Parts: sequence; structure tokens; C-alpha cells
Amino acid sequence: MEQHERVVIVANRTPAAKSAGGLATGLLDALKEKPSLWFGWSGELREDDCNSVQLFSLERLTVAAIHLAREAHNRYYNGFANGVLWPAFHHRLDLMSFNEHDYAGYLEVNQHMAEQLQPLLRPNDLIWVHDYHLLPFAGMCRALGVTQRMGFFLHIPFPVPSVAQAIPRIDELLDAMCANDLLGFQTEDDRRAFVTLCRERRPQKPVPNTGVYPIGVDPHALQKEAEGEPQVQLWPNDSIQGILSVDRLDYSKGLPERFKAYALLLEDHEELRGNVQLVQIAPPSRTDVPAYVDLRHQLTSLTGEILGRHATLDWQPLIYVEQQYERTALMPLYRQARVGLVTPLRDGMNLVAKEFVAAQDPQDPGVLVLSRFAGAASQLDGALLVNPHDPGEMAEAMRIALTMPLQERIARYQRMWSVLCASTIDGWRNRYLHDLRKVREQRRPAVPFSVSELMRRTSETAELAVAKAH
Ligand code: G6P
Repeated sequence: MEQHERVVIVANRTPAAKSAGGLATGLLDALKEKPSLWFGWSGELREDDCNSVQLFSLERLTVAAIHLAREAHNRYYNGFANGVLWPAFHHRLDLMSFNEHDYAGYLEVNQHMAEQLQPLLRPNDLIWVHDYHLLPFAGMCRALGVTQRMGFFLHIPFPVPSVAQAIPRIDELLDAMCANDLLGFQTEDDRRAFVTLCRERRPQKPVPNTGVYPIGVDPHALQKEAEGEPQVQLWPNDSIQGILSVDRLDYSKGLPERFKAYALLLEDHEELRGNVQLVQIAPPSRTDVPAYVDLRHQLTSLTGEILGRHATLDWQPLIYVEQQYERTALMPLYRQARVGLVTPLRDGMNLVAKEFVAAQDPQDPGVLVLSRFAGAASQLDGALLVNPHDPGEMAEAMRIALTMPLQERIARYQRMWSVLCASTIDGWRNRYLHDLRKVREQRRPAVPFSVSELMRRTSETAELAVAKAH
């Protein structure tokens, strides 16, 4: 019955891990108010105890966290999720590195998680699975006999079919994804790409229910945080116009392209030298994946080049910080910036763009320069939209933003503020769960495929690959 319904979140990270990212920020408060369960990885790598579930409570939310063995985690997280799916979904096939062994590890961890979750489930649970780490999770659950309503939300972009078809085993993954009752995407482009791929690759099978649910923020709460006391005054007395960027150190964020565009701005506009400063906060992530190590080298080298060429004894054109800051510390910094520079090459939504807007002083707002390839660009029409592959266009957008008259800044800010208020994180959650409840009344999924068959085939191929390598 409806009154006994419980929302079950399944995600790679749990609030037990060092950070559950934007997802936790958006869901935790609401989940604490009603009986709910959050299931995922504890953030710990342990060789023992991988079959036990650690339970703890946050008000009415129960967190159920499992440990993973280092080797299994490495194949699942570094190997397949971040070595194949992440680059391919961000259209970087050149960085995709597939092997059977990692793929088998990815399936095994998904299977293990499904087996650990199953005994914790209740008949009226509404299961909501998150992100690319868990593409086959619903298929695994169905094969174990889980019949509860189950939906999936993809936080990152979905690749266009011509790129998706280059992902090894994509058909198996698609079949498993289609065991969900509802698949949610950030933008209509992502949803359409998924549906087109389903039609092309599984022409005889029905296309599952899909929807577009752009993730939002809580603009009023963020505005309040931004009004708080800043830990540091980045540009005291408006002596310098500040440009601020905050990103995980990830190749999808377009950091080298951004630095090159900023260098071009300084090169072409002598009048800005001494008067402008870019602060880039970029905490390293996924440091066991080679592409991330290369990116860090590239960025530190570009930083050195820009400083060497333009810095003077009394002016630093660029501050590059790898330290990670809590969102509460970042919000007052966003408010100090004249320009928020958010220029990913491809991004699911990009919540930094929304947080930057929410943080602004309505009487004297900064300007958002935003990549047209971030999901947020489909909503934030008050931003200056740029092509992050075009350094000249980005430099020009920065110049326009730095010199934009107050009236235009206010008008753009107001348009974006209205969007934030109309598309909040609460609305995102409620709309998705509402649709998940509704679709289930129309359709009951059948068990889609035999997972044991899939796992058997994969481990045989992996053994073969290992044997060949020797
Ligand atoms: C993206 C993904 C999230 C992930 C986050 C941080 O936003 O969509 O699922 O949690 O990056 O990455 P990490 O690998 O540290 O979890």
C-alpha cells in the first residue's frame, strides 16, 4: 500500500563514503524525513568482510553500505566504469580502454551488490538506481527475482548512437538497463540518443519508459550559504576582477582549453593585465586512471606557462588550487567573482553552473560563461554560451562578461534565477518518483535475460584473454 512505500536509493557512493557528491546534497534532507534506505559502497576497500552490510541511521534514513575488495573495485570502478563508460559517454573514445577482465569485474560487483540488497528489500519499495556504475544492476536484480518498481537515472550524458556502438558489450548493457521500469536522463538529447540506440540495437524488443529530469539545486538555501562569512576575500576592495572556475580535475571539464583561452585573453587585451585574475579550483579525482594523471601534468605545465609569461611581482594572473572545499565554503567565493567560467567539453548537467547563479548578489550579480555542451546550457539561457573548443570565442566571452553593464547582468541573472526556482532539486526528485510510481501501474517487466549465462560467457572470455596473454 502507498502508506508503506519506502524509497530505496542505490548508488556507487553512500553518505558513508568520503563524499556522495551532488546526489547526497540533493537527496539526503528529503530522505531523512521518511523511512528510506540508501544502499551502496562504504568507500572502504577491505579484503575481509565483503559479504557483510554495515547499517547506520540518519534520522529516518537507513544507510546500508558494503565494502569492496581492492581488486574487484579496481576492475569495476577504475577499469570499466571510469576506463570505458565515462570516456565513451563523454565522447572520448580515444581514452577508452576495454578489457574483458575489467568488464567481468564490473558485472561481478553489480551482481554482488544486487545479491546484498535483495534481502533488505520490502514488497512496496520504490528502487531508484543512480549513474553509470550501475548500468546492469536492474537486470541482475530482476534475474534474482526482484519485482519491485525500479528506475534508473543517468547523471552523465548518454552518447550518440554512432559513439555508443563502439562500446564493447553495449547490447548486453542495454538489455540490462531495459529491465528498469523508467529510465531518466538530464536532457532531451540524452534521452533521444538512448531511445534511438534501443531501436537500432534491439529492434524486436520494446523501448522502455524514458523521461527527461534535469537535476536542480535548492536556490534559496544556496543563496543563504553564499551570504555567509567567506573564509577568504579573494579580491578585496574590487581591486581585481575575479574569474572563478571549480571543477573536479577531469578531462571532460575542458580545463586545458580554458587555460589556453585565458592565456589568449591576456595576450590580446593588454588593458586587462594587472586587473583580472582566474582562480581555478580543481581537486584531483580518479587518480588511478592514467588519463587523469596525464591531465594533471598538462595543467600544471600550462599554469607554469601562463605565470611565467604574464605574472609580475605585484600581480598573479592565475591561481591554481587542487585542494577540495566543501560547498558551504565555495558559495561565498562564487559571490565574489565577477565571472563564473564553466566550460566542460561535455557534461551531464553541471551543478557548479547552477550554484554560481544561486550565489550571486541580485543587486550586483556576476556573469556566467557556460559551455553549450553542458546539460545546464539547455536551461540557463541567461548565460553567455560558448564553444569550449574555440579559444577565441571563449576569450571574447570572458571579455564581454568582464565589461558587461550592470543592467544587463541583472536581467540575465533574473532569467536564470527564475529557472533555478522552477527546476529545484525537490522538484527533480518528486517528479521522477511520481513518474516511477505511475509507469509501474501500466507495465510489469519480465525477467530480461539470464545473468548467470552473461557472467559465465564473460568469465570464459576473460580466462581466454588471460591465457592468451601468457
Ligand atoms: C560525476 C558522476 C557521479 C560521481 C562524481 C564524482 O558527477 O556522475 O556519479 O560520484 O562524478 O566522481 P567519483 O568518481 O569521485 O565518484
